Amino acid sequence: MKTLLLSLCLGVTSIGSFLLANDTVSNNSTPKNPIKVVILLGPPGSGKGTQAVRLTKELGIPHISTGDLFRENISQNTDLGKRAKAFMNEGKLVPDELVLDMLFDRVSRSDCAKGYLLDGFPRTLPQAGALNKHLAADTDLIVLNLDVPDSVIVKRAEGRLTCKVCGNVHNRYFSPPEKEGVCDACQGELIQRPDDRTEVVQERLRVYHEQTQPLVEYYKKKGVLKTVDGTKSPDDVFLSLKAGLKSS
Ligand code: AP5
Repeated sequence: MKTLLLSLCLGVTSIGSFLLANDTVSNNSTPKNPIKVVILLGPPGSGKGTQAVRLTKELGIPHISTGDLFRENISQNTDLGKRAKAFMNEGKLVPDELVLDMLFDRVSRSDCAKGYLLDGFPRTLPQAGALNKHLAADTDLIVLNLDVPDSVIVKRAEGRLTCKVCGNVHNRYFSPPEKEGVCDACQGELIQRPDDRTEVVQERLRVYHEQTQPLVEYYKKKGVLKTVDGTKSPDDVFLSLKAGLKSS
């Protein structure tokens, strides 16, 4: 009898495991399939772009950078690019009404169906509120915050060299190219971003502390924030971010 009961229990357990493993089996409850959204937060030049490339490879989700989207619009001379350019070159934020449509249009494309990583968005409390409304309630949201002091930021931004052709990033102090002025990845020309001039970097930092830093507290209260020390080497920062993702 005991053996019979045990086999019945085991049978029920294996059917249960099969049902859990096989999401094509229909039942009355809606299958849970939340999308993963990772927000990379941090001051200008804290390494968001550098780490976004690694994280999106690791997670298999697209990297959405609002700064890159604006720079693409500027290089294609679109209406949006013309309107954003002056704000960017002065180190100011582009007004929310120009940012939100562009961002939500981008994340509604099919490659973002399972999730995406946001780099440089949100940057203001109203942007965070708009994103919150846009995301489904069951979204798997995590915010990774790179903590880097202003003194380190200034040196990183001033030293940054960006490839005009492929967008690859070098740094004259920390990761210089093999040949001066030439991208290691594609041999394209390396240039300094107009907003990496010293006086503009100072303004970007001021704007960051005033308008973006409050998001650290906002996401901490929501219980989704992981802060990592962004002053370590890029490899070590990546390891800390991966650990942050696992513990979420
Ligand atoms: P955006 O392009 O988003 O610029 P940002 O946030 O200021 O960030 P950066 O691209 O300057 O730096 P990063 O953190 O990606 O660092 P990176 O990895 O390159 O925005 C530009 C402008 O667009 C804004 O100012 C605004 O006008 C507008 N904008 C964009 N989004 C907006 C929004 N949502 N709302 C309104 N306006 C918006 O690294 C920097 C340098 O440091 C590189 O040289 C890199 O090689 C080096 N480095 C990186 N990590 C390390 C490390 N661990 N050790 C040593 N060096 C390192």
